[in-house]
Order: sequence, then structure tokens, then C-alpha cells
Amino acid sequence: MSGRRRSSRGVGDAGVEVLATPAGGLYRGDCLAVVPELVRRAADRFDLVYVDPPFNTGSARGRRAGTGARARGPVAYRDAWGGLDAFLAMLKPRLVVLRDALSDHGSLWLHLDHRTVHDAKVLADGVFGRAAFRAEIVWVPGNGGRRRDAPSVTHQTILVYSQKAMIYNASDPWLRESYAATSLGMHFREVDAGGRRFRERTVGGKTYRYYADAGRRLGSVWADCPAMRANTPLVAETTGYPTQKPERLLERIVRAASLGESRVLDPMCGSGTTLAVAARLGRRWAGIDVGEDACRIAAARLRAAAGLRA
Ligand SMILES: C[S@@+](CC[C@H](N)C(=O)[O-])C[C@H]1O[C@@H](n2cnc3c(N)ncnc32)[C@H](O)[C@@H]1O
Repeated sequence: MSGRRRSSRGVGDAGVEVLATPAGGLYRGDCLAVVPELVRRAADRFDLVYVDPPFNTGSARGRRAGTGARARGPVAYRDAWGGLDAFLAMLKPRLVVLRDALSDHGSLWLHLDHRTVHDAKVLADGVFGRAAFRAEIVWVPGNGGRRRDAPSVTHQTILVYSQKAMIYNASDPWLRESYAATSLGMHFREVDAGGRRFRERTVGGKTYRYYADAGRRLGSVWADCPAMRANTPLVAETTGYPTQKPERLLERIVRAASLGESRVLDPMCGSGTTLAVAARLGRRWAGIDVGEDACRIAAARLRAAAGLRA
């Protein structure tokens, strides 16, 4: 695989192409301007858009100085917008261009936390139409609660939208979870000739067999994708970029909502987690970030993953 580094070729006037490989491209710029240009250039839309914007924390996000250290390095990106209204005003036009960049069966996954998700849900319902709302994933990163004055918030939320029936690979093993121990004990009492435990249920005169080791369809609470710095830090994939998401979370999303030939877009890609996963799974991909730090880290990560020289 070949790769160009810091090409001077722009994306129109919208941004700078930082990395180009046969499978994908990374661009520095504001996704508001870059996304329409990517769609125009490729004459192709995206089956999956995962967007993990700043969370409106009101502070600067510094790079981590070492994997286990609390000390912060230089500022990677600013997450202060001057309040919720200003944050929503930033988000709305970007959701519009992302909606318009989706393929007919494409879906957008919007990752936020308690600070903005409720207002952003109303905003996104307005942009997509309420009927386009498909799901709300509660992601439990596994960090313990710290508050003493009120319940700790130990989850983040991913809102899913699609205009038409979305690509959803319900049978993918990554979209299954184990049965609860009580269910296994109570219901899965039979064993087939191959030694597999199962249960059978008869519904409407038809008998269905369920195997214990196949698990059940995944629900909307995902607690099996630990955060980068949960109890067992994911050292191998740590880039030091703040708010980096774990590859396991993105692998589930990419497997769920894209096909082998799909184009996957992360318009605020940070350290490039979505892109690295999409590349590994053989999807075509595009990533955008407004920050130099993010682009440098994501480019290095993608180059390393593709076996390209730094
Ligand atoms: C929460 S971080 C993304 C982290 C990423 N998911 C990862 O795993 O590393 C949000 C990113 O959005 C970028 N960003 C903010 N506004 C942007 C914009 N208008 N266009 C492109 N990127 C933007 C920031 O620079 C930051 O890197």
C-alpha cells in the first residue's frame, strides 16, 4: 500500500489532505467545509458516520503525559464554547452536512455525554426528523463513580439516526452478548449431541432453538468495551490523545453499521480510532480533524497500521 504524506493538495479551499492511501484519506480542516467537498469529489456518500464531538466540558483538553500519569501535556483541543447554546449552534450546521453526506441506508452515530446529549437529541431530531431516530446506546466505559453530592454519571450516550432502513448486521457475532447467569441456569438445561447447551421455545406452533454459547442479541447498554483508562488501561492502543475512544467500541459500531464495500467517515476523528478500525476491517474511510495534533497522531497511527513509513 502506498501513502502520500502532507500532500499540498487541498480539499478545494476547505482543508488540507494530510494522508492519502488507496483505502482512505485524512484531512485537516473544519468538517463543515470538508465534508461537502469529499462528497462532491468522490460522488459517493457514506454508509456510516461516527461523530464524537467535543463534549462542552468548558475546558481545554490536554494530551496525556504518559499512559498512567495524571499530568497533562500541551493542549490538544479546546472544548469551551461559551455555554450550551453556543455549543449547539456549532453542532447544528455540522449535523446538517453530515446528514446530507449519508448514503440512502447510511446511519449517523452521535457520541455525547450527559452535559449535552438531551439538548443535542432535540437538535438532531430537528435536523433528521424525529422518525429518523433509531437508537440510543448507553456506553458504560467502566470508570468508577466519584461524586459524593449526587449520583455519579458513569455512562456516555450514542444517538443513532438514519433516514431510511439502516445497514445493520444483526447477526454479526460482535452484536451478541452473553445470557445472564440466572437465565443460563434456569433455561438452558438441555445439551445436544455435540455437547452444546440449548433451550427451545415454541411460539405460534413453531419451535425455536437457542444455544447458550451463541448469546443473545445485543441490547442498548454496552458495558463490555472498557474506556482507555478504565480498570485495565489499554496501553497497546494508547496514543496519548485526550478522549481517545477504545477500538473495541468502534469495532462494534463499524461491524454493526457498514458492509465490506462501505465508506466510513469520522468528521472529528481525533486520534483516528474509527479510521484505524475501519482500515483494519477493510472498509474505505475518511477522517477529518481541525487540530494539527490530532491529524499528526491519526496519520502516524494509520501509517503504522498500514505498514507505511513515517
Ligand atoms: C472527542 S475528540 C475525538 C476523539 C476521537 N474519537 C478519538 O478516538 O481519538 C473531538 C475532536 O473533534 C475535533 N473537532 C472539533 N471541532 C471540529 C470541527 N469543526 N471539524 C473537525 N474536527 C473538529 C477536535 O479537534 C477533537 O480532536
